[in-house]
Amino acid sequence: RIVYLNGRYLEEHRAQVSVFDRGFLFADAVYEVTAVLNSKLIDFAGHFARLQRSCTELGLTLPVSEQQLRDIHQELLIRNQLHEGGIYLQLTRGSAGDRDFCAPADLSPTLLLFTQARPLKDAPQASAGIHVVSLPDIRWHRRDIKTVQLLAPCLAKELAHARGADDAWLVEDGFVTEGSSSNAYIVTADGTVVTRPLSNDILHGITRQALMQLAADGGIKVEERAFTIAEALAAKEAFISSATTVVWPVVSIDGQTIGDGKPGPVSLRLRQRYLQLAE
Ligand code: PDD
Repeated sequence: RIVYLNGRYLEEHRAQVSVFDRGFLFADAVYEVTAVLNSKLIDFAGHFARLQRSCTELGLTLPVSEQQLRDIHQELLIRNQLHEGGIYLQLTRGSAGDRDFCAPADLSPTLLLFTQARPLKDAPQASAGIHVVSLPDIRWHRRDIKTVQLLAPCLAKELAHARGADDAWLVEDGFVTEGSSSNAYIVTADGTVVTRPLSNDILHGITRQALMQLAADGGIKVEERAFTIAEALAAKEAFISSATTVVWPVVSIDGQTIGDGKPGPVSLRLRQRYLQLAE
């Protein structure tokens, strides 16, 4: 695989980052994952806007312009002949050549991008649905910033797998915040899609943003409000969204079946419409 690191395209084994890089020592870094479908970047502008927002919130400076970054994505996609999957981007504050909590102001940031081939259209989880368990949300309180501080979601996924499930839905103060690496939704008896409103409690999903628009265009009612696991268990459908899944139906929560235990029509319709955007 060819990766991009600080202005160069390199074989992955040649790409090296300092052991003092603040991304490595302090998770002082932000990231993005942009989906690739039919060899095309999906919603690059949305991902760029969120990246810029993450950078602003943390006082990080992007070393490249939007057009340069788009070109880097395109170049990587071509060099790796990526047809379907995603491009991962990470920007760290850089290395000061030692470990010090306070970063000097003049650091050069580290910019890394690599491709990941993964099935998006024909993912088995999309047709079978996934099983989730609810777990306490132990993350920090700025989940709107896409940092690489991902220990809590890693542990949540591991715990979910240990319990025989595919993923976790995180719960805070009795309400679902989001999935461990996705936004969470339910569909009520009258076909309304319910998902938590944007705030610092959740990541502002780029896929979520597109799905909200598709729902509005398709006459599907959406309510942006927090919901409980009890409400989700009584819902007709449940699903998650992200750049790595698009939409995956959730067919059980904590071992209890949602609806008839099969991917629901609203989830599948939204998934289909989203995939059509890339045609
Ligand atoms: N995760 N919420 C969380 C906590 C996430 O980590 C993600 C994405 C989302 C969905 O955002 P988007 O639709 O922009 O992908 C919501 C990425 C895919 C990841 O960590 O791999």
